[in-house]
Amino acid sequence: KLLIIDFGSQVTQLIARRLRELNVYCEIHPYQNVTDAFLAEFAPKAVIFSGGPCSVIDKDSPRPPESVYDLGVPILGICYGQQVMMQGLGGHVERGHGTAEFGRAFVVPHGQLELLEGWFLTDKEQVWMSHGDHVSKIAPGFEVYGTSPNAPFAITADVSRNFYAVQFHPEVHHTPNGAKLYENFVRMAGFSGDWTMGAYREQAIEAIRETVGDKQVICGLSGGVDSSVAAVLIHEAIGDQLTCVFVDHGLLRKGEAEEVVTMFRDHYNMKLIHADEQELFLGELDGQSDPETKRKIIGKLFIDVFQKYANEIEGAEFLAQGTLYPDVIESVSFSGGPSVTIKSHHNVGGLPEKMGLKLVEPLRELFKDEVRALGAELGLPPSFIGRHPFPGPGLAIRCPGEITRAKLDILREADAVYIDQIRKHGLYDDIWQAFVAILPVRTVGVMGDGRTYDYACALRAVTSVDGMTADYYPFTHEFLGETATRIINEVPGINRVTYDITSKPPGTIEWE
Ligand code: XMP
Repeated sequence: KLLIIDFGSQVTQLIARRLRELNVYCEIHPYQNVTDAFLAEFAPKAVIFSGGPCSVIDKDSPRPPESVYDLGVPILGICYGQQVMMQGLGGHVERGHGTAEFGRAFVVPHGQLELLEGWFLTDKEQVWMSHGDHVSKIAPGFEVYGTSPNAPFAITADVSRNFYAVQFHPEVHHTPNGAKLYENFVRMAGFSGDWTMGAYREQAIEAIRETVGDKQVICGLSGGVDSSVAAVLIHEAIGDQLTCVFVDHGLLRKGEAEEVVTMFRDHYNMKLIHADEQELFLGELDGQSDPETKRKIIGKLFIDVFQKYANEIEGAEFLAQGTLYPDVIESVSFSGGPSVTIKSHHNVGGLPEKMGLKLVEPLRELFKDEVRALGAELGLPPSFIGRHPFPGPGLAIRCPGEITRAKLDILREADAVYIDQIRKHGLYDDIWQAFVAILPVRTVGVMGDGRTYDYACALRAVTSVDGMTADYYPFTHEFLGETATRIINEVPGINRVTYDITSKPPGTIEWE
């Protein structure tokens, strides 16, 4: 396996991502944990030093243990990792003075290097730089293989020892051919690219059994991809020691509760508590129209309800969560400064402490697409794995203004027709998320010979990579027209359909 020593770069996880895409198993460990003993035990086949926000010139800046250079394995240093390596091996690093580079730069090659094979497709390659300090003298044994206007040592290597150092970030999107570098590096390190989800599944099952022992685990199952995959994986590891709690807050889509209960209880034979708490949630939400108030009510009730059911499970010591790798990384990021709450997101954070539970998070090392691959490996149906994200507060945030059962019913029907249209036209997988919002206005229409006075709704469909930014999906007019007609004909209570063409920012994906 490959070891990534994390010096705190915001993009360290992308290194892991690039390597996983090459089917190479790697682990990220913070530099503090990487001691001589750790290295001996981990026995990496190759090591990558990540970038980081510190300056190697500072006395207490993070470093790897010196024994890493004696392992006899290939090492790749990136940005801060390059500087740490140069300094550690006898080179020299200096502070900025006009040599800082942030953003796009172009590297030109100097001679042949296996690491760069197939990389320089033209006489220069675009790379992404982000450094204040720079290497002023390379370490003995190193030679220069690439330069940029502000980085005379953009790419250096000591080929005899298999040490490589680059000033830029090959893992980011703005280094378009960066993946090639990683591909060459892992090949040179002797990886054959045989790490698969099948292998991960076996490892994860072992690890869950070891952690949990003979104790009981509870899992909040939302029916979303992450919690579903986590539940199925844990169930495979410990069977009936797992109990899932599915909270039905009355804000689910058409047929959703039945689908989840049937699949997990009947198909997977899991112990599943179907907590039908519609009355409670809809009761508390009655008359509320402020978006944040609605979110807070739902968030609080969710925790109360979950706790109530969990307390009934004797001997529960663990809470399973479908936490993903990006959540883990995000929560330790360096983004200082105040940030504004746009929406208070719904999660069950804080629950484990409150209930004195330990966590089991078997997806902590995976990216979303890997979770989907694992789901497929575990036999979850493709239609389930490829589902669009659905927010914790459910339809509440797609029903601006006061929530009523009547409105929710109309919304559910309209949404079902819309999604059916999208599936029928083969567009579902091209769209990141699609749904209907029911608007808090009624408008006048004419159907047959009669006047109607019914709700208007808005269709939403966006493309996105991570939900942070989004663009509206460019449906054809034919599609929109046909969908509007179907909704108005098939869904009593709606007589007007609009299409929301706001991007994010300035809009958000959901309406509240
Ligand atoms: P917004 O509306 O903020 O949504 O652009 C971005 C993505 O996050 C989802 N979302 C949530 N997911 N709990 C969740 O689990 C929430 O409270 C929540 N609010 C929004 C939204 O569906 C979109 O995918």
